[in-house]
Amino acid sequence: MLANMEHALYQQIAETKLLPLYTATDLTCLPRLEEVLVKNEVRFIEVTFRSELAADAIKQLAASGELIVGAGTVRTLAEAEIAVENGAKFIVSPAIVPEVIDYCIKGDIPVFPGTATPGDIQRALEYGIKVVKFFPADIYGGLKAIKALSGPFYDVKFLPTGGINAENFIEYLADEHVIGVGGSFIISETILKKDDGKSADEALSALVEAIKKA
Ligand code: 3PG
Repeated sequence: MLANMEHALYQQIAETKLLPLYTATDLTCLPRLEEVLVKNEVRFIEVTFRSELAADAIKQLAASGELIVGAGTVRTLAEAEIAVENGAKFIVSPAIVPEVIDYCIKGDIPVFPGTATPGDIQRALEYGIKVVKFFPADIYGGLKAIKALSGPFYDVKFLPTGGINAENFIEYLADEHVIGVGGSFIISETILKKDDGKSADEALSALVEAIKKA
């Protein structure tokens, strides 16, 4: 069934542990973005519908087949459709958006609906979804909340995002109910624009190394 751990994409996220959330405002950064991600073996990218370039960026990043490109901040069916038409292989929403979830279930497209409360998680489960985004993680209780929610929702895996950073991500990843962490701290246009992406490469490499050591 959709969004259960048997799906290959969830297995891959569980192995990579990082889901970079990226907002594109300048398409010229994309080749370097792809290069840095591939070099560090982070094969995922979530491109957000927070800019007009989202669909173009998804298309461009999906073209080489090196990355598994998804769409984030998907709040409408139209955005989900545009994302998939342009090559998105998974969908992330900030909340439970029934029309987006129905579309993804029909197309067998992995979907990560945003949840923050027991009520949200229960709703996701009613769709058969057992891997949920937990957002905004820092505001809604962080790791402490995930541990408490994992009591009744012992069969759910969480993808926390919102306020995750280089200082706290390892702590989140140590929890067995956390499939991976997402966020803008992993890579961004701002860091890619510094010294030709060298800083982005070093920062991502440090995150990946920290995971290996943990
Ligand atoms: C999201 O939509 O997941 C968040 O906006 C990511 O939050 P961050 O910028 O704190 O990582």
